[in-house]
Amino acid sequence: ASKRLSDYQPYPFALETVRLDFRLDPQETEVRARLALSPRRAASALRLDGEELELLSLAIDGRSLTRDEYTVDKTGLTVHAAALPAQPFTLDTRVKIAPEANTALEGLYMSNGMYCTQCEAEGFRKITYFPDRPDVMAKFHVTIRGEAPVLLSNGDLVAQEDGFAEWVDPWPKPAYLFALVAGDLVAHSGSFTTKSGREVALNIWVRKGDEDRCAFALEALKRSMKWDEDVYGREYDLDIFNIVAVDDFNMGAMENKGLNIFNSKWVLASPETATDADYERIEGIIAHEYFHNWTGNRITCRDWFQLCLKEGLTVYRDRSFTADLRLGPVKRIEDVIALRARQFREDQGPLAHPPRPDHYREINNFYTATVYEKGAELVGMLHTLLGDAGYRAALDLYFDRHDGQACTIEDWLTVFEDASGRDLSQFKRWYTDAGTPVLRVREQFEDGTYRLDFEQDTKPTPGQPGKPPRHIPITVGLLGPNGQELVPSTVLEMTEARQSFTFEGLGARPVPSILRGFSAPVRLERDVSARELAFLLAHDTDPFNRWEAGRQLAQDALVALAQGEDADPAYIDALGALIADESADPAFRALCLRLPAEDEIAQSLHDRGVTPDPEAIHAAREALARDLAHTHEDALTALYEAMAVPGPYTPDPGPAGKRALRLAALGLLNRLDGGARATALFENATNMTESLAALGFLVQTGADEKALASFRSRWEGDRLVMDKWFIVQLAACPPERAAARAAALTEDPLFTWKTPNRFRALMAGLAGNHAGFHAKDGAAYRFYADWLLRLDPVNPQVAARMSTAFETWTRYDADRRAQMQAELERIARTEGLSRDLSEMATRLLG
Ligand code: ARG
Ligand code: ZN
Repeated sequence: ASKRLSDYQPYPFALETVRLDFRLDPQETEVRARLALSPRRAASALRLDGEELELLSLAIDGRSLTRDEYTVDKTGLTVHAAALPAQPFTLDTRVKIAPEANTALEGLYMSNGMYCTQCEAEGFRKITYFPDRPDVMAKFHVTIRGEAPVLLSNGDLVAQEDGFAEWVDPWPKPAYLFALVAGDLVAHSGSFTTKSGREVALNIWVRKGDEDRCAFALEALKRSMKWDEDVYGREYDLDIFNIVAVDDFNMGAMENKGLNIFNSKWVLASPETATDADYERIEGIIAHEYFHNWTGNRITCRDWFQLCLKEGLTVYRDRSFTADLRLGPVKRIEDVIALRARQFREDQGPLAHPPRPDHYREINNFYTATVYEKGAELVGMLHTLLGDAGYRAALDLYFDRHDGQACTIEDWLTVFEDASGRDLSQFKRWYTDAGTPVLRVREQFEDGTYRLDFEQDTKPTPGQPGKPPRHIPITVGLLGPNGQELVPSTVLEMTEARQSFTFEGLGARPVPSILRGFSAPVRLERDVSARELAFLLAHDTDPFNRWEAGRQLAQDALVALAQGEDADPAYIDALGALIADESADPAFRALCLRLPAEDEIAQSLHDRGVTPDPEAIHAAREALARDLAHTHEDALTALYEAMAVPGPYTPDPGPAGKRALRLAALGLLNRLDGGARATALFENATNMTESLAALGFLVQTGADEKALASFRSRWEGDRLVMDKWFIVQLAACPPERAAARAAALTEDPLFTWKTPNRFRALMAGLAGNHAGFHAKDGAAYRFYADWLLRLDPVNPQVAARMSTAFETWTRYDADRRAQMQAELERIARTEGLSRDLSEMATRLLG
């Protein structure tokens, strides 16, 4: 049974306040709830969501209901209309739940002896009977009784004694933002003074022993709070802000009001245990969850179809934050690499869906790259269309008009229309239509007039056969023969299926730089010579397009090699100049040296109508890397020496960029020296960035036994570092070993598969090894499907999420397709499958 956007009905009762009383116990926690409700229309029954609850008592205005006044079923409780007063009333329930038995990690559960909650999207119904939908917002008053020394919930702490705490949240919120944490925790604390002078106590709560890994997250939080004041004018609205790190968590982190809960992986950092990339992600996720306080919590979603309203906007905000604090163009390139790898991939397969879907069976399956990353691209396009001042005016209006409300994409777009006077009805298609538009462009030059002829086309996606043209902002600049800007960046607005734009008064044919900054999430197709791409790589004044030109050169070379053809030497030649270009930022050069992933090459081949052969792709990528290394051995060696960062480690963008370039050089040289440099680096590294990269290079060469053993014995007791140990040896190993190695690793006593991070490390490591996962004999497919089926009854959310490894199955040859299809069918017909995995299997099969 699907839920549909068109079925939306407001809740027939207003919920004013909620009182919750918890008596914590691992096996039998008792939850008392008192809801103050008032009917909005007469004679409506009262429906409350509730799952896996044992109902102990139920009363209205103090009177216990008789058995014929209500019914209880598997998904909730209905109080019949006849039993309800016509006036406002209070409803009291008492239920029993068992946190320790909760392995799905949704609702109230336990992680290493600590109680914690995850309620988004629909987990609150596993805690108590409640209208568990985001448009029902209420003020929560919570008391907690339990043995743990630290008892936390949302809002402000109003009373506390041994084994007791009372929390009041003055801001109305939907149930999905509720949180409770109880355990033997220690805080790393600080404070922040808001621009209007409110002093906010900040705490990062962790298990004992982890307190020395919190400093970076705390500083990142302060930077986020300041940035949101400076850039969006948004101030924090409580006297306390708590963050808790938990080891067992289904996703990255959660923005519960005043009490963010994080996967410990995205909080804890020290130079010895976290990489540069980890530091950057931690900063970004801390910001993301903090920014939700305004975009998500103060203004929330009317229903879960609107998820991208809060997620797309908040991702856009955290990206801008990182771009401001670090290197803007480098951040943009990283984001686009990720967008293509995850969202374009999703859009091209059976799971394609619009940023705002209109039906689903299980909402947890829609926390996707399309909702998050493409959702953020749509906000970015609105920003491009309105300009900085227009965007800021629209956001100010959004906060003014909708504070305290549960909103829709329509509300959001109306704000942009009202602030700008523009008609955005065509732009809305980006929200409602799935698929990545292909944008083709041809050029004409005559008598000083240069013309660009664009054509847009979006292929059908599941359930959406026809795709009308979209409103596409195309940022274009024109360059002269020496790389000077003839026409600076200009936004062309395409609204038709075919549309031309002209530039007059040009002395000679210019070189166009199209889709600067990746101004729209489309696939650009243009016949362009390798010479011109090399020119753009050397001269484009837009850093994104500069990188993009190099990317396309690499892609073209790889596509040729993977089909047994010769590669144009342009890429290898052009990189020579770039390696030596000291005016270009090291982080930028590192990105240019990074070859596209094998999965991306497979997609490129598929886009060109060629069936990808995973072995050939792997061989092509190896060959190109080797060729690059050979040709530029001296320059790369010099770079490897020059980019060494002396002195103590800091995760700042400057040194991190140098390390990235140094390691990119080493990755290539590693193909020539049989792992000699990597071994030396592995033995001497004093930070995780270099240690892990070196280990990965050794895994690549196959000479990894000693290094893996020594890494393991050093880090055995560290769960976050051991996740890296699992992932690296699968993701980087020669493909023919991947499946067997994965199987062997499942026998390792450290493979605690019920811990999501560990399960993901192993499975994502394997799935990330493109040629290994797609090995001809199908061993990896079978292994992977076996484990999804094993995890499903324990943790359906994670099992369903991991099933996306199969989302590209229709790309490949008949043999592989048949094997993957067989695995998906085996999953689909398994009895007792969760709704999560069953929906995924059905959609994947198409
Ligand atoms: N709102 C959280 C975030 O974006 C993610 C929650 C995901 N929940 C889920 N059930 N998948 O930061
Ligand atoms: Zn979010």
